[in-house]
Amino acid sequence: MNEGLFITFEGGEGSGKTTIINKLVPLLEEKGISVLTSREPGGVRIAEEIRNIILNPDNKEMCYETEALLFAASRMQHLKEKVIPALNDGKIVICDRYLDSSLVYQGYCRGLGFEKVMSANAFACEYMPNVTFFIDVTPEVGLSRLKGRNTKIDRLDKESLDFHQRVYDGYLKLCDMYPNRVIRIDGNRDVDSIVSDILERINKIM
Ligand code: TYD
Repeated sequence: MNEGLFITFEGGEGSGKTTIINKLVPLLEEKGISVLTSREPGGVRIAEEIRNIILNPDNKEMCYETEALLFAASRMQHLKEKVIPALNDGKIVICDRYLDSSLVYQGYCRGLGFEKVMSANAFACEYMPNVTFFIDVTPEVGLSRLKGRNTKIDRLDKESLDFHQRVYDGYLKLCDMYPNRVIRIDGNRDVDSIVSDILERINKIM
C-alpha cells in the first residue's frame, strides 16, 4: 500500500507556506492528480481540539515537554485519520507543517533537543514525508509580513524576534541533517515563481 506521495511544507511565521500551497494545489489538480491538503497542528477534529489547547494564550504555565507531547499526539491522530488513508488511496498529501516543526520549535528553539523530540514522536517517525519544502524567508521579512496581516496573536506568535531567529537557524540545521529530503526554496521571489519552481521539483519526484 502507501503508493501516494507525502509532501510537507515548513518555514517560520510569514514564510508564505499557506499562500504557496493554495496556488500549487489547483495546478496539480489540473493535471488530474488527486490531492489532499491539511495542516498541523490540526486537520481533524481531535487534533484541532489539541491545537486550541497548545495555542491558547491563557495556557502560560504549559511546560515545553507537555507542548512537545501535545504536538506529537495531535500529529498521530491526524496521520491515522487523514494522512495514511489518503496515501493508501494513492493521493498526494500536502501538509502545512509536520514533524520537522517539532524538531525545530520544540527540539531546537525550546532546547529539548532533536533526540527527545524524535522519541516523543516515535510513532510518527515511521511516516516521514517523501519530500519537504522549506520556504526560506528571513525572520525579519516573515515578521514584517505578519504585522501587515493583523491576525489573532497566539501563544507561540508572542515570542520575540530572537525566537524567530532561532526558528530560522533550526531550519537551516534541518536542511543539513536531511539533505536528501528537505529542499530549500527561496521564498523571497514572487509567489508564481516559487510555485512553478516547486511544481517542477514535484514533477521530477513523480
Ligand atoms: P499556525 O497559526 O498554524 O502557524 P503557521 O501559519 O505559521 O503554520 O500555528 C502553528 C504554530 O505552532 C506555529 O508557530 C508553529 C508551531 N508548531 C510547533 O511549535 N511545533 C509543531 O510541531 C508544529 C506542527 C507547529
